[in-house]
Amino acid sequence: MDIFKEKNRKLILAIESSCDETSVAVVEEGIHILSNVVASQINSHKRFGGVVPEVASRHHVEQIIGCMEEALERAEVKVDDLGAVAVTFGPGLVGALLIGLTAAKSFAWAHNLPLIPVNHMSGHIYAARFVSEMTFPAMALLVSGGHTELVYMKEHGSYEIIGETRDDACGEAYDKIGRILGLSYPSGKEIDEMSHLGEDTYNFPRAMMKEDNYDFSFSGLKSSVINLVHNANQRDETLDRHNLARSFQQSVIDVLVTKTIKACQEYEVKQLIMAGGVAANKGLRAAFDEAVTNELSDVSFIVPPLNLCGDNAAMIGAAAFIEAKKGHFADWSLNAKPSVTL
Ligand code: KG4
Ligand code: ZN
Repeated sequence: MDIFKEKNRKLILAIESSCDETSVAVVEEGIHILSNVVASQINSHKRFGGVVPEVASRHHVEQIIGCMEEALERAEVKVDDLGAVAVTFGPGLVGALLIGLTAAKSFAWAHNLPLIPVNHMSGHIYAARFVSEMTFPAMALLVSGGHTELVYMKEHGSYEIIGETRDDACGEAYDKIGRILGLSYPSGKEIDEMSHLGEDTYNFPRAMMKEDNYDFSFSGLKSSVINLVHNANQRDETLDRHNLARSFQQSVIDVLVTKTIKACQEYEVKQLIMAGGVAANKGLRAAFDEAVTNELSDVSFIVPPLNLCGDNAAMIGAAAFIEAKKGHFADWSLNAKPSVTL
């Protein structure tokens, strides 16, 4: 069905609440952001060193209605202008997801609008569409707090996971190393900044880099850093924090870049997309820019702007537009799927 048939514009109201950001956006034709309201809860979780699910749910309940009103107001659109409501149904924290889902279902039902279910990880990939049109076949490297995946896409809305982490996600490793270094949660950005002031002197392992598959592992790297810091503490030695950050980050970059470039060559893709919270990493972005220029001459590289790498509802609106084109709609029984894969 063409949900936009009787509308002047192709507008989707998108809702995201899978983790610690309550976000609502209005997106036109899947590529124009009219509004993207993001209410972060990070300050409430910082003192616990990670996201506390119950605290997250409570914040979502408090924020969601205000975010919906603000998103419509900032976009200067009326409810009657909307063609559909889109919502993240997973993966994520079940309580957090249910707040967004309940809000989306209630709003869609009350205003007689179709409901589009969106996988959070496809949302991260489709943030790329705000930068440039996607060309296929494409490879997406998804690097976030909960996921590290290489995804092959032969066309819009088609996902084949060809490799993933066997233990910690990349962002999770950043946050755990940050804890050891006494940084506040989430620590990815600060480790990135510190790493630019240091050298790779500790030469940590590059797990699975040379193996003949596209899987990743970050727990060995994490243990190496933790052991080094503990041993130094016991001997009362001081480590160079900038060199430590740089050495850790360089190991992450080398593995991600080497395996992703190999995957792009083997699958003969036309485009590489990097997305997810860790895609905001300046060292990683620069390393990919250089590697793609040198080793993938015919491949275009897209990475979303920094504000669209982390969780936000605009990316959900972008992915939803493709789902709607494919006729993927949900009924009122749509439930949260905390562990759903692409
Ligand atoms: O995608 P995201 O916002 O939430 C999830 O879906 O998980 O990703 C959050 C993760 C956190 O682990 C955070 O430390 C990491 O992204 N992150 C970074 C940077 N900015 C955020 N990691 C490395 N470098 C950064 N600049
Ligand atoms: Zn995310």
